[in-house]
Amino acid sequence: MYITKGRPALVLAPMDGITDALMRRLLTSVMPFSYCVTEFLRISALVPPEHVFRKTMPELECGARTASGAPVELQLLGGDPERLAESASRAVSCGAQGIDLNFGCPAPTVNRHDGGATLLKHPERIEAIVRAVRSAVPLGIPVSAKLRLGWDDPEAIQHNAERAARGGAAWITIHGRTKMQGYTPPAYWEPIGRVRAALNIPVVANGEIWSVDDLKRCQDQSGCEHFMVGRGALANLTLVRDCALSLGLSPATEGLGASTLGWLGIMRALSRLSREYGEADRRTCARMKQWLNYAHKRRSIDWFDSVKQAKCSRDLLILVERATVTRSELFASCDLHAASGEVRAPSQSPYG
Ligand SMILES: Cc1cc2nc3c(=O)[nH]c(=O)nc-3n(C[C@H](O)[C@H](O)[C@H](O)COP(=O)(O)O)c2cc1C
Repeated sequence: MYITKGRPALVLAPMDGITDALMRRLLTSVMPFSYCVTEFLRISALVPPEHVFRKTMPELECGARTASGAPVELQLLGGDPERLAESASRAVSCGAQGIDLNFGCPAPTVNRHDGGATLLKHPERIEAIVRAVRSAVPLGIPVSAKLRLGWDDPEAIQHNAERAARGGAAWITIHGRTKMQGYTPPAYWEPIGRVRAALNIPVVANGEIWSVDDLKRCQDQSGCEHFMVGRGALANLTLVRDCALSLGLSPATEGLGASTLGWLGIMRALSRLSREYGEADRRTCARMKQWLNYAHKRRSIDWFDSVKQAKCSRDLLILVERATVTRSELFASCDLHAASGEVRAPSQSPYG
């Protein structure tokens, strides 16, 4: 359902504050992701009641899949093996089909409370956590681990990954940076390859895949066949489709794929979904700007400044339409009439 040796995979990275159920639904319907992972659910002193699992992962009601059928894995974060094991067991009784364990979150508040990347300093605790969760859920439910290279030592991954595997991880996802490296480029893919070569479970390579060239270099350096993509999927609407093609996966979403929809189509789809989910417009507008800002920072769009002042999603859509449709229509029109030396403004917008 999730990761199989010999079959390449493209995984949507969990991104707290971004990839909630609404975004998972949208992204997996317009980009050919193999599966996705929820934002982390933090497990502290108490095992969360059922409604918390259902809120974090509404897909539990639908066979742990998004509307377009992409499997969803639930990610848990914490430092207490027993609490995590009980939580995983409860999640499975609610319908979870796979549990991922977060050993990479660099947020100081999370690390201060014994969760995320701080565990990278304690390989034996990683093993104990994976083992406890593994033995709390049925064998058919995979338990995976997501790690960074280390806290401050990138070589720590060799030991940490080995411990996670010994604890029973079905596969390991590695973000090719230490906690101290935060999100500063580059990501280091070679150490990921050494882990892959040393372990006999699949390894998913992650970090700084922004283009098909990056994917190919990551593939060369890590030897991996499974990849997780986060910010790149937001910044570049064609990336996941192009990576899927490069990996020999058939992008089933072609007809309504993100690359066909373009920025206006995607923002409209987001707006429609947000209304369906009853989301406050202020949140929707902020989401749209946050997404467009990723594209702006990667220079995928050059019109962010002309839309970022919008105060509501309707205004934002109008500005995105002005920035995209009129311009591309104008260019199309210029192309059409270039031969006759005639330059005309487009007569009407196909988006009405
Ligand atoms: C805003 C944001 C939130 C994130 N939240 C999570 C999270 O909840 N769980 C997790 O394992 N990783 C989280 N990550 C890390 C990503 O899953 C991924 O490892 C990282 O962004 C590197 O991949 P990329 O270069 O393809 O974005 C987050 C990253 C970002 C940028």
